[in-house]
Amino acid sequence: MRKSEIRELLKVTQDPEIISFAGGLPNPKSFPIKDLEGVVISVLENHGRVALQYGTTQGLRELREAVTERAHKDGIETTADDVIITSGSQQALDTVGKVFLNPGDTALVGSPSYLGGINAFRSYEANLTGIPLDKDGMNIDVLEEKIKELLKNDILPKFIYVIPTFQNPAGVVMPESRRKKLIDVANEYDLIVVEDDPYEKLRFDIPPVKPVKAFDDEGRVVYMSTFSKILSPGFRLAWTIANEELTRKMIICKQALDLCTNTFTQFIANEFIRSGSLDLHIMKICEMYKPKRDIMISAMEKYFPDGYICNKPMGGMFAWVTLPEGIDTETMFLDAIKEKVAYVHGKAFHVDGGGGRSMRLNFSYSSNDQIEEGIKRLGTVIKRKLETRKAVL
Ligand SMILES: Cc1ncc(COP(=O)(O)O)c(C=O)c1O
Repeated sequence: MRKSEIRELLKVTQDPEIISFAGGLPNPKSFPIKDLEGVVISVLENHGRVALQYGTTQGLRELREAVTERAHKDGIETTADDVIITSGSQQALDTVGKVFLNPGDTALVGSPSYLGGINAFRSYEANLTGIPLDKDGMNIDVLEEKIKELLKNDILPKFIYVIPTFQNPAGVVMPESRRKKLIDVANEYDLIVVEDDPYEKLRFDIPPVKPVKAFDDEGRVVYMSTFSKILSPGFRLAWTIANEELTRKMIICKQALDLCTNTFTQFIANEFIRSGSLDLHIMKICEMYKPKRDIMISAMEKYFPDGYICNKPMGGMFAWVTLPEGIDTETMFLDAIKEKVAYVHGKAFHVDGGGGRSMRLNFSYSSNDQIEEGIKRLGTVIKRKLETRKAVL
């Protein structure tokens, strides 16, 4: 097992003087503390004896029903029986690894892809094959070629892991046509798709995009999403939607992990959804994050040297930046820390050693002023690096 680079980085960023674009943290000012006060009291008064008790491994039925209703609106056909409430999506990723992966098995992941997913799958000693992303997410033609190549060597990949909407880290969105193509490929080669969807509701400039699961008529997509980015990561609440057989297997695995997900927060989340507060809250978060995204993008235009590439993310929490030739964002990280600004370097998200010139910048966590100042500091670091390189050449 390897330690998580993001966790290690977050330690450095505990220094209050550092402006951190590193973690995938929601803005703490977005937490609906006042609204939750009433909900917490109501849960204790009306359900205290059950809410403070152990619950079922699959999760509170009322919350699974609430999740099901929301999934229907997104175009996913399911019932509460096929939903599991997990302790964060991170647990769902680990459970997927536990169900599918034996040492030496192969799984296909985006290049780049979410580090927590990569680490979870690696802990089961899987071989991870990277599939490149373009501006529309995972390149399905390359995916198909890779599958054929693996099959020629008698390797049947266990699943394809995708984050189709506001991808972490690249911020890109897979269009509907490509989602359908992904399902066609999965059907053709009889493969499972693991769809990780934490960011779709953090949409600023584009209409809703149907999840890949909405096009899945053979029950081969394991869908997961989380309350971490739309309510509170401290709740540790997420959910999976999968076919009956996989749901049963994942529940067995989860029993050994934690017996059950936090019962108290499940009750709170359920009441928060039922009162209509969650949808209002999501609107408020989007209103808060969109200007942050804009400030970050225009600060880059102001302070970064020519030659960097950053496509404006249409939602989510991350901007993905690729710097000019000759810059290694991994070694530049120490210079950035000296200037009191932090990011996650691109290599951390690649299973194939790519991403050396890239970095992920989170725009949700910092204040608007910090974003402007942090990008200014980063611009200074990058310019200095480029000048040193020129001098050497
Ligand atoms: C793509 C992706 N999947 C899963 C997670 C884990 O989320 P959770 O807090 O629900 O464990 C994150 C968190 O940043 C994420 O970005």
